Parts: sequence; structure tokens; C-alpha cells
Amino acid sequence: MTRTLFVTTALPYANAPFHIGHMMEYIQADIWVRYQRMRGAKVYFVGADDAHGAPIMIAAEKAGLTPQQFVAGIASGRKAYLDGFSISFDNWHSTDSEENTALAQSIYLGLRDAGLIDVRQVEQFFDPVKGMFLPDRYIKGTCPKCGAADQYGDSCEVCGAVYAPTDLVNPYSALSGATPELRSSEHYFFRLSDPRCVEFLQNWTQDGKLQPEVANKVREWFVTDPDGSGGLSDWDISRDAPYFGIPIPDAEGKYFYVWLDAPIGYLASLVNLFGKLGTDVDAFLADPAVEQIHFIGKDIVYFHTLFWPAMLKFSGRKVPDNVYVHGFITVSEEKMSKSRGTGISPLRYLELGLNPDWLRYYIAAKLNSHVEDVDFTPSDFVTRVNSDLVGKYVNIASRVAGFISKRFDGRLSTDLGADGEALLAELHAQVPVVAELYETREFGKALREIMALADKVNAYVEAHKPWELAKAEGAEVELHQACSTGIEAFRVLTILLAPVVPATADAVAEFLGTEQFGWDDAVTPLGEHVIGRYAHLMQRVDPVLVDQLFEPAVPAVEPEPVATPGGEPLADQITIDSFAAVDLRVARIVAAAAVEGSTKLLQLTVDVGEPSPRTIFSGIASAYRPEDLVGRLTVVVANLAPRTMRFGVSEGMVLAAGHADAKTEPGIFLLEPDAGATPGMRVK
Ligand code: MSP
Ligand code: ZN
Repeated sequence: MTRTLFVTTALPYANAPFHIGHMMEYIQADIWVRYQRMRGAKVYFVGADDAHGAPIMIAAEKAGLTPQQFVAGIASGRKAYLDGFSISFDNWHSTDSEENTALAQSIYLGLRDAGLIDVRQVEQFFDPVKGMFLPDRYIKGTCPKCGAADQYGDSCEVCGAVYAPTDLVNPYSALSGATPELRSSEHYFFRLSDPRCVEFLQNWTQDGKLQPEVANKVREWFVTDPDGSGGLSDWDISRDAPYFGIPIPDAEGKYFYVWLDAPIGYLASLVNLFGKLGTDVDAFLADPAVEQIHFIGKDIVYFHTLFWPAMLKFSGRKVPDNVYVHGFITVSEEKMSKSRGTGISPLRYLELGLNPDWLRYYIAAKLNSHVEDVDFTPSDFVTRVNSDLVGKYVNIASRVAGFISKRFDGRLSTDLGADGEALLAELHAQVPVVAELYETREFGKALREIMALADKVNAYVEAHKPWELAKAEGAEVELHQACSTGIEAFRVLTILLAPVVPATADAVAEFLGTEQFGWDDAVTPLGEHVIGRYAHLMQRVDPVLVDQLFEPAVPAVEPEPVATPGGEPLADQITIDSFAAVDLRVARIVAAAAVEGSTKLLQLTVDVGEPSPRTIFSGIASAYRPEDLVGRLTVVVANLAPRTMRFGVSEGMVLAAGHADAKTEPGIFLLEPDAGATPGMRVK
């Protein structure tokens, strides 16, 4: 029976370009989807941008854009990554869409009619300057436990204490610096603690469909302490205006919290796709045979295994059939930092001309069905791709294809000889094994099986030595058999690898003169067939290029004569005392915005460890986008006399490097202390 699948990946926040973590998720899901399509399944594979929420609203404001403009800018960058890495989404949409608004409101009304929505008063910090309630991460203050200044509203980075924003000593708004006021307002809650929800979710999460480690984790969330505390809590699903989100239909000035409408975006993207196809989406979702699968990372399991299925169930909809959870990717064992990424950008990978199939192969080789982290290790990447993909797989074609063209006009022999047939029988026997490994997301194991087969094929070629047969008298038949067997085996291996390296598989199909591969083609020999001329399919990875992945993308600079480093002679010598007169402090940029009427300046709000942040106008607009600066550490001259400018008072100077001749050697480079420095530390 052909399967019908509705497959999604998590919807990325529309506040930044993709990083390698996103690409890993897309590659994992895409491999599975391509495998299913090759099996003949009808797959609807959709994604979307997660557009709503306070952080995006604030980032947009800082960038001087409407939230819609801001997310549109991010969305316009998605295609280069998705096409670049052959991610075969059928649709990409946005949670800030008509479809999502209609769906979110309808799901909410369903939950309300089911008696699962409560309204309660909640006390929360309000920024009187900004006129808005502050999300926890925008409240800072002194840690109530250890007294460290400038800690975030939920936890202390110095002593590790976890607390509520209301526990902070001297709290202030990271947006305006104002002292927040406690205000009460009505919030809407989804009653997840309702016995109906608990019973349904106990079942849905513990019936064996989830990965064992995920089911175990989820089980802990149900546990109630002897005093009755713990267990599933009701979920605050509303936020007060101003908020970038979807209005709650029966509540003036209230919006759905972004995590309420985010997963609904899966359905919105599907509805949008079916609209374009002119197909009935309600009938599709009403069909119990349709399997709904979500690929997600380990950090968002709570939302996908509790809130999301419960929202669907109690609004009378189809619930997910499974949620496939993956671990995180690190680069050289380093966690990605939110502000700096990993140091390797997927776009830079493409720009350097590295083959996208290499990254797909490498990531696939490290993936399994469990929630395990994987590491991108540059040297390992080079070795793995060069030894497996090039050394084992492509090598087969490059050893035999030339003889087929030169000696047999491209014609394959249908007689492969006894050991040729035996080799193919071995390959065919492994096809269902590899299929099962793809099905269960054991991609690493699948690739190891395939490479073991490639070893056998290479051993066969080695045994027959076509390069010697080609020179020997009367060995024409054996040469034809050996090379035809090699090509047929290569074709089988290509089909097995196709979900992982689709661009390479397409090139092979073209060279062989065959249709796009279906899975069953692996066990259906080509027979009577003429192939095209072989052109080299894949280069070896150049380690130098991989190194360049880590270099900051700065324009190359001509070396300067020694006397004028950076384009200017050194200043006169000073004493240590003159240097000490300059008070340099570590600062964190908490906000950055374009300055109306100036193309050079950015208005920075910097935290220098003082009770309230400072405003600094800095001439770095040509080199930095405001949204890329927020959260970064830098160094400022903290005792510079305030300077009144046309746009306001600048209370210090941010340190940045640049060549003396900015016209011929453009570029401004902000100084950044090593990780671990905190605002207010003196630079000396
Ligand atoms: N917007 C939410 C998801 C809403 S789904 C209805 C979100 N966005 S995200 O951009 O932060 O993450 C998107 C996906 O990328 C998540 O599945 C997340 O787990 C995954 N990853 C983020 N960093 C990752 C790695 N370093 N490695 C692998 N996946 C990672 O969460
Ligand atoms: Zn502390």
C-alpha cells in the first residue's frame, strides 16, 4: 500500500539566517522524505518561518522596520540555503499568514468550547517607557543570591541561581533602562492539567511510538510529588499588546503567545500548499491513513509532545503520528553561541564551492535514530568524504566507465558472468536491509552497509583488473563483463545512496541515461542498455577550502610597508600613566538602531556594568547591521567626555579597527573580548 505522509521540520525563528544546526535538521528530514518518495510514497514536506513573538518585534523596531518587513527580509534569504543543500520542501510559508490566523483562532475556539481555556490575573513586569510588558529575557538586575550585577530575569550567569524576574534586586528594563513596574493583567491559559488532557497525553506519549529516551523524559513531566505539586501545568497562551502575533478572537488587546501559533504553522503551510495545488486539505487531514510526522530538535520536545498533540486533539483534529527528535550539532566540539553561531556558515560553505552532497553525506554518516549530539570535525569531514564517497564509491565508476565507452560504444553486456551475477546477488540481498535502516532513521548504519558493499565491488574490480584485460589479447568478453558488472553495481549503490546525495545521483542517472531512480530500480537490472560518456562525478575535498570555512569573511588586504601598518605611521610614544588615563571597559551592546538622517552612525545602547545603560553613537553603520550587534560584547572608552551630537548625546566611544584609508581599504572591525568577560570589567 502506498503511504501518504505529511512531514515537517521545526519552524525556524525568522530573526536570523540559517546556521548549520538548522541545516542538519533539514538534511535529516530530507533524506527520510527522499527515501519515502523513492519507495513510491506521496509526501507533502513543508516548512515555514516562525515569525511572531516579542524578540522579533523588538529586533524589527531596532532595525527601524515593521515586523512584517523584518521577517520578509529574513524569509527572502531562505531559498539560497534550501536549494543549495537540495532540501526538497514542497512548500515554505510563514506563521504570519492568513492561513495561520484562521487556523489558530479556530483551534483556540475549539479548545475554549471544550472548556479547556481559563482566564486568570497574572502579575508581571511592565516597562513604563516602552509601554509594554517585558518578556523575562528583557529584564535585568542584580542577582538575589550572589549579588552579581546585570543578570537576566530568569537565571544568574555568575552563580547559576534560577529565579523569577520579580526576585531581582534593582531590576531594570534591558530595552529602555527604566525601572519596571509590577502590573497585573488578564492572561489566557490552556488547561493542560485537565484530567482529559493528562489521560490523552499519557496514552499518546507512552504507547511506544516515541523514541525510548524521549518517552522517558516525557514521563518525568507527568510525575506529581506527594504534596500534589508537579505534573502538567496549565500553559499561559496570551500576551498583551503591543505584540507581534495573532489576536485572540474574543479578547481585546490580547494576542496568542508565539508558541501557540508556531506549530499551527505546520498546518498553515500545508493549507497554503493545497491551495496552490487546488486539492481539498480537509479531506486530506480527515483521512486516517495520512501519517503526520514532525522532525524536531531535542530542545523543543515539551511543545511537540504535550502542547501540540493536546491542542490538536481537543480542537477535534488529527493528532501527529510521530515526532522524531534529533540531538544538536556542534562544530569541533564547541556549542554554538547564539550571538556568534559556529564559525561556519552554510552559505559560506556554498560560496566556497564545497559540494553540498559532501555535507549531507557527512551529517548522515553521523546520524542515528537516537537523540544524540553530533560533531562536525573538519579533519574527520575531509577523511570521511574522501575515503568513502570518492575513494570507494565514485572510484568504481571511474575505474570501469571509460572502457565501456571506448571499447564497446557505451553498450553494456547483459552477460555478467558467474561472479558478476554473484556480486549483484549480494548487493540485491542488502537492499531491504538498507531500506529498513533508512525507514528507522539509522542513516549512519545505512551508509556503513552501503560502503561495505562498495568495498565488495572494488574487490571485484581489483580481482578482474580491467586495465590489464584491456591490454590482453582475447580478453574482450571478460573486459565487457567486468566493466558492465562494475557499472551495474555502481548503479545499485547510487540508488542506495540517492536519498543522501541527490545531486550526485541525478548526475549518475544522466550519465547512465536512465530515468530518475526509484527504490525498486536497485533490484531491476538495466539489461540491454547504452550509457553516456563518464565525466568525473566528484572531486576530493580540499582541506584548504575546509579551513577557509572558519575564516572570517574579510576582504583580502595587500601587505603594507612596515613603516605604515594599517596605512598610518605609529603615534608618538606615551607613558603607562597616559595609557592608564584612558578608562577602557568591557560593554555589552543591548540594543542597536539605525540613526535617521545618518548613513554612518548607529545608535548603540551599551551595558557597561552600571545601573543603567549608556547611549553611544558609533560610526560603524557601513559595516554592521544593528540586529547583528545586539548581545555582543565589545570595549568602550568609558571616561570620554560626553559629546552632544545632532542626534543626541554620545556617552563614550566603542573601539573598532579600520585601515587609515577607508576608501581603498574599506572595513570596520569591532573589538570583542574573549568569551567570559562581563560588562564593566576594565581593560588594562
Ligand atoms: N521557532 C522554534 C520552533 C517552532 S516549531 C513550531 C525554534 N526555532 S529555532 O530556529 O531555534 O530552531 C529550529 C530547529 O533547529 C529546532 O528543531 C532546533 O532544535 C534546531 N536546532 C537549533 N540548533 C541546533 C543545533 N545546534 N543542532 C541541531 N539542531 C538545532 O526553536
Ligand atoms: Zn548570582
